[in-house]
Amino acid sequence: MDGRGMKRAVAKACANIALLKYWGKNDAELNLPAVPSLSMTIREMSTQTEVFFSEEFPTDELHLNGKNTMGIALERISRHLDRITQRSSGQWRARVISSNDFPTAGGLASSASGFAALTLAAAHAFGLNLSERALSILARQGSGSAARSIYGGLAMLGVGTPGQVDSAYASPLSMPWTDVCLVVGLLGSQEKSCSSTQGMNQTTRTSPFFESFVSQSFKDMHEALQAISTQDLEWLGRITERSALRMHATMWAAEPSVVYFQPATLAALHVVQGLRSKGIPAWFTCDAGPHPKVLTTLSNSGVVKQALMDVPGIQQILIGTPGEGARLVASGNHA
Ligand code: PMV
Repeated sequence: MDGRGMKRAVAKACANIALLKYWGKNDAELNLPAVPSLSMTIREMSTQTEVFFSEEFPTDELHLNGKNTMGIALERISRHLDRITQRSSGQWRARVISSNDFPTAGGLASSASGFAALTLAAAHAFGLNLSERALSILARQGSGSAARSIYGGLAMLGVGTPGQVDSAYASPLSMPWTDVCLVVGLLGSQEKSCSSTQGMNQTTRTSPFFESFVSQSFKDMHEALQAISTQDLEWLGRITERSALRMHATMWAAEPSVVYFQPATLAALHVVQGLRSKGIPAWFTCDAGPHPKVLTTLSNSGVVKQALMDVPGIQQILIGTPGEGARLVASGNHA
């Protein structure tokens, strides 16, 4: 590797929304999931990240959505870049310029698209020619859900073996539906929520329901794979809603409790269940934030959107359709 010069690459990755939730680690140091998870990558929610490496930069820098960003976000990025640069001698530092084309709000999966795009751009700029699996393993160490955003469409993330960094990665699954979508309701709430890492840690250590959540997750994954292979969206929808509610139930039971729901989140759950009782195929899910997300079909997305718009507190709606995996947008090294 040339010891001087500037190395650069740009990559784009889409966020993903978990249908079967990852919540809990079996090795916090290596960021290995304790449960299998399944997600859909979302075209309408993407992050583009440009990475420049130089031995002349004194420190790493992060420009996120046009703002010079420091603190925990920069520390996480620096730790992740170290995983890539540690493979070479020299003191490489990076300038990372990243922007999301969707609101950067807690629980909206920007860490999934962000770490997937960062991993691909940084690995490529640094001249590492990694397989998708190796990229997924690397991205997972930055953010568990990012492992799935290496792939488009549906992706599942396996469980780790404690102490083995390469033991958990995502794999793509073929998407049997052309009209599936996720309707995302955005709340205006700016309340600072508990980070997913802290929430998982608290849940794993203190929730009496956590063990049941883990054993149910394996059963859910087994059923979800059957639902996908038989193209049974109704079945996958039921598993999706129960996986989310079980994840939230286990964290509500932690001490201190981890509660991401706001009144509008619960109202949206009732609205979705009400739509279903009228025959509309719609299933609720929600992540480490208050924003409700609804699995449905494109032909029903208008009805679902209208119903969510009527929920007080929901300010914006986004319709998410299956997107592509992480990809390079540009690269080039300057001597
Ligand atoms: O990868 P993290 O640390 O952002 O955790 C993701 C956790 C959930 O979004 C709640 C569930 C999931 O599987 O994406």
